[in-house]
Amino acid sequence: MSEPPHRRRSHASSSDLARYAGLFAERTRVMRSSAMRDLMAVTARPEVISLAGGLPDTSTFPPQAFAAQMTRIAQESAAEALQYGPTEGFRETVDCIVAVMGEEGMLPDPEDVIVTTGGQQAIDLACKALVDPGDAVICEAPTYPGAIPVFCSYQADTIQIECDAEGMRIEALEATLERLDSEGRRPKFIYSVPNFQNPAGVTMSLERRRRLVDLARSRELLVVEDNPYGLLRFEGDPLPPLYQLDGGDFVIYVGTFSKILSPGIRLGWLVAPPPVMEKVVLGKQASDLCTSTLTQYFVREYFGEGRWREYVASLVEIYRARRDAMLAALERYFPPQATWTEPGGGLFIWATLPSYIDTSDLLAKALREDVAFVPGQAAYVDGRGHSSMRLNFSAGNEAEITEGIRRIGKVIAEQVELYGALTSDMTAPHMPGGEAEDMGGTDRPNPTPSISDSSEADSIVLPFRKAGEGGT
Ligand SMILES: Cc1ncc(COP(=O)(O)O)c(C=O)c1O
Repeated sequence: MSEPPHRRRSHASSSDLARYAGLFAERTRVMRSSAMRDLMAVTARPEVISLAGGLPDTSTFPPQAFAAQMTRIAQESAAEALQYGPTEGFRETVDCIVAVMGEEGMLPDPEDVIVTTGGQQAIDLACKALVDPGDAVICEAPTYPGAIPVFCSYQADTIQIECDAEGMRIEALEATLERLDSEGRRPKFIYSVPNFQNPAGVTMSLERRRRLVDLARSRELLVVEDNPYGLLRFEGDPLPPLYQLDGGDFVIYVGTFSKILSPGIRLGWLVAPPPVMEKVVLGKQASDLCTSTLTQYFVREYFGEGRWREYVASLVEIYRARRDAMLAALERYFPPQATWTEPGGGLFIWATLPSYIDTSDLLAKALREDVAFVPGQAAYVDGRGHSSMRLNFSAGNEAEITEGIRRIGKVIAEQVELYGALTSDMTAPHMPGGEAEDMGGTDRPNPTPSISDSSEADSIVLPFRKAGEGGT
C-alpha cells in the first residue's frame, strides 16, 4: 500500500491566522507557552550543555531491570496492560503511592487518591475543578514555571507571594488575604512547593508550614501542596508535609513518580477530600479517560521487587555530588555580585545577578557558547525575575555542570565588563546578599538604565523554536 502524500506546513502565515482567529476560545488569549518546552527544543543540539531542563538522570535506571519488568508484563498480563483502566487508577498503583507517601510520614486514605498523567495533570485537574476565569490563585514568587501556563489557561488571576530562604513569606500572604477580603474575594487555593522548590531550591521552614496550615484551616482555604522532591533530600531531617500537618481536610496533595523513578511513564497523583475528588474524577474522565495502564503495570512490577527505596537512595547520592559540583563552580566562575541558593535537595539552584543583567538576553548569548539555563522571568507572571536564572544539576555529570557554569560565568563577565565601560565605573553595584533576600532579587529599581534592549515582556522570547519536545 502506498503512503498517502504528506503536506508539509511551514509556520502559520498571517492569512492562516486571520482564517482561524475568530474561532479561538477567549482563554487562548492568555495561554502561555511553557518556557521549558521552548528551551528543550533549542537545547536539543548534542553540543549544548543544558542546565535548563528539570530532567532526572534516567540513565541511572538499569536497562536490564527495565527489560525484565516489561517482559514479565508481556508474558503475564499483556491483555490487561494494553486495555483501558479505571479513571481513578488501579488499586495496586494507589498502594505504591500510599507507600511513597508513607515514606514522608503521610497516611492517606486510598479512596482519596487518584492516579494522574504526571503531577502536571494533577495541577491541571485541581484548576479544572476549582478555578473560574478571574478567580484568584495564590502561589510563590518565584513559582514552578510549568504551573504558570496551567493557571493562565484557566484564566486565573495569579497572585505571587515573595519567598525567601524559608519559603513563602506568610506575613505577606496574610496581607494579601486581607486585601482580597476587603475586595470581597476569596482565593480558590494557595499553591506551594514546600520542599526544594522548583525553581528556587528553597524549603519552607516548619514554623511557616504550621502557620500556612493554621491559616488555611482558620480561613477555610485550600492549599495545593506539590511535592515532587521531598524524597530527594541530601542532608538534614525531613520536615512534615503540609498534608500531614493538616490531615487532608484543606490540603490537596500532588505527587509524582517522575523524579523518583521516571518522567517518561507519566504517572503522578492527587489526594483530595471526597467532595473535591468527585469533581476531579469527572474532570479527568473528560480529559483522558484514564492514566496509562501499561505504565501503571510497570510501577506495580517495579515496586513489587521491593527495591525502590534503594534506587531513590542512589539518586540522592548522585544528585548531592552534582549539587556540590555546581556550588563549587558557581563560587569559582560567577562574579562576586551574584547570589545563589544552596538547596539541601531537589534538582535546582536559583542564581541572581546584578539587576542590570537581563537573563533572557543573557540566554541568547549563552546559547552561542552552547550552554542553557532557564531565565527567571519564566517563574513569574508579571515580568519579575529578569536578573535571575534557574540552574539544574540533575541532568549532567559533574564535569558537564562545571563546564556549563564556566561558560555562563564567561558571558556574565562580558556583561559586567560592558556595564562597567558604559557607566565608566568598573565597579558594578554590589547586590545585597544574605539568606533572607527575596528570590526575585530584581524588583528593586534599576540604578541606571538597563544595558539590555529587551522590554519587560511577560513571556520570554527565545531565539528560535521547534515544536514537539517537552520538559519541565
Ligand atoms: C514542582 C513541580 N510540579 C509538577 C511537575 C510536573 O511533573 P510531572 O508531570 O512529570 O509529574 C514538576 C516537574 O518538574 C515540578 O517540578
